[in-house]
Amino acid sequence: MRLLFIGDVVGRSGRAAVVQQAPRLRARWNLDFVIVNGENAAGGFGLTESIFEEFLAAGIDAVTLGNHAFDQREALVFIERQPRLIRPANYPPGTPGRGAAVVENAKGARLLIVNLLGRIFMEALDDPFAALDRELAGRDGCQAVVVDVHAEATSEKWALGHFADGRASLVVGTHTHVPSADHRILAGGTGFVTDVGMTGDYDSVIGMEKDEPLRRFVRRIPSGRFEPAMGPATLCAVAVETDDASGLARRVAPVRLGGRLQEARPSFWE
Ligand SMILES: [Fe+2]
Ligand SMILES: [Fe+2]
Repeated sequence: MRLLFIGDVVGRSGRAAVVQQAPRLRARWNLDFVIVNGENAAGGFGLTESIFEEFLAAGIDAVTLGNHAFDQREALVFIERQPRLIRPANYPPGTPGRGAAVVENAKGARLLIVNLLGRIFMEALDDPFAALDRELAGRDGCQAVVVDVHAEATSEKWALGHFADGRASLVVGTHTHVPSADHRILAGGTGFVTDVGMTGDYDSVIGMEKDEPLRRFVRRIPSGRFEPAMGPATLCAVAVETDDASGLARRVAPVRLGGRLQEARPSFWE
């Protein structure tokens, strides 16, 4: 199968890149599934139902979240009626929504997607390793498994990658908003990248308009709101081709399109 995972979509600029590019990329690369991390899609903070539906209309198969999952309070309600919307699995029991979902495409292929939140340098939830074990038990009948590890610490992401190695098709890091250059296939056959990078304007401070973050760093006193930067976005993603029998990765490559970063495309699909 051919999978594309698009990193944290920040604000209107990021959404425009996804809505314009995702249908074209799906056709050009004959993609089976396209997943996006949508935790910053609504003005940088969380996700609204109308934006979620905009992603579905653009052919996105599923949307993952992260530490900003419930910044838009309406997400606590609409997540219950949207089976393709996935929040971190290691929230405490009783949290609205689900931490994993199985999606099926038109060809009848089935993909399990799991979302996890790291515990280092961020608001700590329950154990992500135990949550992953629990969610992987639901992979029966799926040809591929994608795990979105939404975490700050690179060490924790690598550890979760090795923990899932041989049991997932792809472990993809999100949250730092900076693409790392270490995409590879782990010893047990799982595709891995520490961070896929954001889909947003890179003339910014991790997606936000520069002035207010700079003022806060320099003066230590907030003097305004954080607003997403509105320049052209770079769509950052990871492309993975999996083996249907084993569910493991055959090839993995970074994708960077538009905006300020140097372009990258999966040569094996071009
Ligand atoms: Fe993010
Ligand atoms: Fe985040």
